[in-house]
Amino acid sequence: MGINIAIDGPSGAGKSTLARKLAEKLGYIYVDTGALYRTIGLYVLRNKIDPKEPDAVAAALPKIDVSLRFINGEQHVYLNGEDVSADIRLHEVSQYASLVSAIPAVRQYLFDTQRKMAKEHDVIMDGRDIGTVVLPMADVKIFLTASAEVRARRRYNELLERGQNVVYEKILEDVNLRDEQDMNRSVAPLKPAQDSVIVDTSDCSFDESLAILYKTVKERLNNKNEC
Ligand code: DC
Repeated sequence: MGINIAIDGPSGAGKSTLARKLAEKLGYIYVDTGALYRTIGLYVLRNKIDPKEPDAVAAALPKIDVSLRFINGEQHVYLNGEDVSADIRLHEVSQYASLVSAIPAVRQYLFDTQRKMAKEHDVIMDGRDIGTVVLPMADVKIFLTASAEVRARRRYNELLERGQNVVYEKILEDVNLRDEQDMNRSVAPLKPAQDSVIVDTSDCSFDESLAILYKTVKERLNNKNEC
């Protein structure tokens, strides 16, 4: 088993950019588990399957092969052999990913992929249920959050930079809807693990947030080694 660091939190809290940088600093592999759910969401969207129909989505799973590869330290995700790392970031895929992620068969399907990565490597894994379900024995658990408005603003700026045509109010609405779905689903709802450190980045710059995370991880790992 490698060293496992779990970072959970709502969408737009800065998990992926911070976790990626933190992994770089620590020399670990960064696993973005949202990309796995997004890949299933993309398949469902492309094949006109209703993401609110658990049976229809579950029936499609045997036709979906999702795999991760790391190229120059960057995670790439493949859907039936096709690199879909860019397509899964399209705004419309987010809502599909959130809906399919509430389906138990989908979570079960992706569980082994996630566990295997954590077993074979030192990882920083981000998601919603990493500290609670996927890696309950993780060495360090962080719950990263920020207000819905701050998260929506960050997401809005990110999409604008990518040249997507977006409206802030719509993004805020989507953030609230996804929070609601992710926190209230019956399987693996988004919530901090009991032994997690809660980090709120609403008033922090990227560099400040990174420094807090780095310090938290180092301290927790040192404490573990002392016991
Ligand atoms: O982190 P993200 O926005 O790329 O995740 C997309 C969706 O996938 C999100 O709405 C919730 C879901 N998800 C999940 O349920 N469990 C995870 N470990 C990661 C993501």
